[in-house]
Amino acid sequence: MCGIVGYVGRRQAAPILLEGLRRLEYRGYDSAGVAIQNGRGLEVRKLAGRVQGLRDELAQAPIAGTSGIAHTRWATHGAPTARNAHPHVDCTEAIAVVHNGIIENADALRAALERGGHRFRTETDTETLAHLIEEAAGTTLEERVAAALSHVVGTYGMAVVAANEPGKVVVARQGSPVLLGLGENEFFVASDASAVLEHTRSVVYLDDGDLAVLTPESYHVMDANAHVQLRDVSDIAWDLDAIDLGGYPHFMLKEICEQPEAVKGTLRGRLMLEEGVARLDGLNLTPEACSGISRVVIVACGTSWHAGLVGRHLIEELARLPVAVEYASEYRYRPRLTIPGTLTVAISQSGETADTLEAMRAAKAAGSRVLGLVNVVGSTIAREADGGIYLHAGPEIGVASTKAFASQIVALALLGLFLGRPRGLPLAAGQELACRLAQLPRLISLALALEPQVRELAREYAERRNFLYLGRGVSFPVALEGALKLKEISYIHAEGYPAAEMKHGPIALIDADMPVVFVAPRDAVYSKVLSNMQEVKARGGRIIAVTTEGSADHGALVDHRLCVPATAPLLSPVLTTVPLQLLAYHMAVLRGCDVDRPRNLAKSVTVE
Ligand code: G6P
Repeated sequence: MCGIVGYVGRRQAAPILLEGLRRLEYRGYDSAGVAIQNGRGLEVRKLAGRVQGLRDELAQAPIAGTSGIAHTRWATHGAPTARNAHPHVDCTEAIAVVHNGIIENADALRAALERGGHRFRTETDTETLAHLIEEAAGTTLEERVAAALSHVVGTYGMAVVAANEPGKVVVARQGSPVLLGLGENEFFVASDASAVLEHTRSVVYLDDGDLAVLTPESYHVMDANAHVQLRDVSDIAWDLDAIDLGGYPHFMLKEICEQPEAVKGTLRGRLMLEEGVARLDGLNLTPEACSGISRVVIVACGTSWHAGLVGRHLIEELARLPVAVEYASEYRYRPRLTIPGTLTVAISQSGETADTLEAMRAAKAAGSRVLGLVNVVGSTIAREADGGIYLHAGPEIGVASTKAFASQIVALALLGLFLGRPRGLPLAAGQELACRLAQLPRLISLALALEPQVRELAREYAERRNFLYLGRGVSFPVALEGALKLKEISYIHAEGYPAAEMKHGPIALIDADMPVVFVAPRDAVYSKVLSNMQEVKARGGRIIAVTTEGSADHGALVDHRLCVPATAPLLSPVLTTVPLQLLAYHMAVLRGCDVDRPRNLAKSVTVE
């Protein structure tokens, strides 16, 4: 989704801003722009399309200046045109603003500003901010920004520069993440740490209501009441290598192949094999609080929601607690039921998904203890949760989530063990699962060895227009995830369904042109899935089966078999997903799709 970069210091701003934008490209965007204080005023360049286009334009006609702001936009209000790209300026082009989020009262503000004589150039909600600041009273830019924001309803992470205050960037946050990067006589602004990592590892995450002022000499943060605040300085743990391609053609493939390491990261220091339990200090759950839990509600979006569906099986089976899995966007607008004993678990790779964050806040307001299963350290969900489990999967750059999914399932298994053992999960069962978890990284590597076979399969099917993915039990969410991966990056229509539910509708679609992917590891429902395969075969469908090594009894039923190693049935999703990720990846590559930047999608959806 939209990305912000800002710089103030002694070096030339343009190359730093452009490199920062390049690092944010993975978030998804459709236009880009910069505003630089060139010593005489503000110079703005923007275009629809890629950051490379902006780079080419600035190479042709450079802008000199040591402070500025930049943006990649993912259109919400107004088409993705050069005009609507950020930065946006006021009437006299003395103020430039970049903004993530949505100004909810933009229409009313715009009407009032137009009545007051302001001329708008774009269809965006963000432009109202530039005019509001122009209109606002105050002697310094920060005073005017604060005054302008007092009229605003909505969410923002924003950075502002003014022509008459060179060497200053003002930043504000309400609901959309922004951080400051701290250097020596230079400071950075970014919506995500990857944009500043090349320059500094020390960052300050702003809180909602914060306003920060940056100059080459210093920075300070003020709260909503203009009181200067001391905010913690955090250290980013990962290296620049982690956000580079490292020889892979795409981040998605790199991250699929990194899954053994990602899962190791999630497990590190947490498995207690002898005791058959997980050590999860970050949950901040005392044994008393633990025994007071009577139900679990999982809230999430997209792939994280699919992980939540797997989590339901894990927690229900291991801890015998009822689990509801909710789309965060739906849950947040339903009546807030205060049910004592509810533990809410928000799952989010980015930790910034607006709907998941709001669902978590709603649950908290209703009295629930809230946990975050989050990958990005220091993200908003991680900070607002009462406790949680960091995935430690390493940065995920590809828009289509892959390694985070594996780590989320593993984290949910750890949570299941943690909650389950004190609730009666026998020691032997705990030990068995812990041991199976420890084996997973090696088994994922074996599943990854299917790649040549999957590539062949992709060649055969790349021109198909529809796919059906079917699975039962713990494999149903895998079917959903396989279908999601395919549609996200190859734009092939794909649906995931519980295998038996197929009879209630999708069966009407089956003919020789409809490939059906069965997720069918050997587990308690395996024989049932074989019957569902028969139903497809009887109608001439082509079957691709993802199954467990050694399960040959579907013989002639299946047209293609992809065999993953055996593991505990509850953990099979971590392995059965691998060939489906690879299938989506290779189909997309064969179809010439931009795998890491699929059209219309954003990595981190920070608006509702
Ligand atoms: C976007 C991404 C998905 C992701 C979802 C939830 O739609 O494209 O890959 O699963 O957001 O993101 P989160 O960061 O909350 O896991």
